[in-house]
Amino acid sequence: MNSTTRQTPSAFSIRPANRLQQLPTQFFAKLVRKASEQVAAGHDVINLGQGNPDQPTPPHIVKALQEAAENPQYHRYPPFNGYLFLKEAVAYRYKEDYGVELDPETEVAILFGGKTGLVEISQCLLNPGDVCLVPDPGYPDYWSGVALSGARMAFMPLLEQNGFLPDFSAISPDDANKAKLMFVNYPNNPTGAAAPASFYEETIRFAAKYGIAVASDFAYGAIGFDGRRPVSFLQLPGAKDVGVEFYTLSKTYNMAGWRVGFALGNREIVRMINLIQDHYYCSLFGGIQEAAAKALTGPQQCVDELVARYQSRRDALFAALERIGWQAAKPQGSFFSWLPVPKGFSSEAFADLLLEQAKIVVAPGNGFGQSGEGYVRLGLLTAEERLAEAAERIAKLNLF
Ligand SMILES: Cc1ncc(COP(=O)(O)O)c(C=O)c1O
Repeated sequence: MNSTTRQTPSAFSIRPANRLQQLPTQFFAKLVRKASEQVAAGHDVINLGQGNPDQPTPPHIVKALQEAAENPQYHRYPPFNGYLFLKEAVAYRYKEDYGVELDPETEVAILFGGKTGLVEISQCLLNPGDVCLVPDPGYPDYWSGVALSGARMAFMPLLEQNGFLPDFSAISPDDANKAKLMFVNYPNNPTGAAAPASFYEETIRFAAKYGIAVASDFAYGAIGFDGRRPVSFLQLPGAKDVGVEFYTLSKTYNMAGWRVGFALGNREIVRMINLIQDHYYCSLFGGIQEAAAKALTGPQQCVDELVARYQSRRDALFAALERIGWQAAKPQGSFFSWLPVPKGFSSEAFADLLLEQAKIVVAPGNGFGQSGEGYVRLGLLTAEERLAEAAERIAKLNLF
């Protein structure tokens, strides 16, 4: 061997930073793997486990992107923090839908989807040793940001007897005093519950008393059933003093792949989110920003039609479940149904049984936190016939 050849020392290894090791395990990755195995084995799997909208983006929005893609201005770097016209467009939508006034320059941050902002806010506000109040069950991305910041999570159980709203009086004074951030999410993933205005009043009072910033995750803000328009946290007096709302185009306009979201409200938090983003990104492709603005300012009939579609699917599913004796409360919003598992099963054991014996994928409730144990989450993201077929397959298992 040539004596000058460099050899990699056998002890060499790439060592991750501690930060990466703090990340929670991706519970649902296992679910995706098990479902893919069943599909690969040739089974007709009905996947009700995921939260990916099944309908395409409305054509007028796609067309707006096609046209905008030709604009050479957008081939250059976009401005840091994004284009003002998109901030104005979301401010316009909030004024129209909720009567909320937002200053586009200082009270709006553009995000790469809501998910990014939900992780960034923890980086902006939490130090190691701080506490973050997190709903249980809840959307697992809240945990990721808190874990990266080195803070501790204190869970707020969402119980059926409380309408799946947190009980602030059950939070220990120690946790309340140490908390710097709190996540709330209505219409709720995974329970499908909606929150009344009085809940946000209570949230603002509690947050102001203990100096806790509020992150209201309004990802399903457009999806309320039975004629109910979900309440925005920002509609309540004092909301902007204590927090921000995260909004996304993913669900409202079936734009999950486009990655467009917003943080809205408290200007100090908006400033911090923009600051951290200045270091990571240079905003979204200008063509996407233009099409997103057209989605927000253009005709909204597509949103009404989408909500009607989900409601009709919900009703078809619940009619079929009732026939087989599976009792549960219908969701008030979002596109999820939250159903108790039969006696004698854990969430995971029941989800495994449905996959193995009925070839149906559902999300086990414990993946969303300890208080999700005893439930499974079913998505309304497939045609009514498939939802009815899922109920028929379940009926054959004679569990109810
Ligand atoms: C509760 C909740 N918040 C936020 C998001 C993030 O959505 P996006 O990153 O697509 O805006 C989701 C997506 O599933 C969600 O369910």
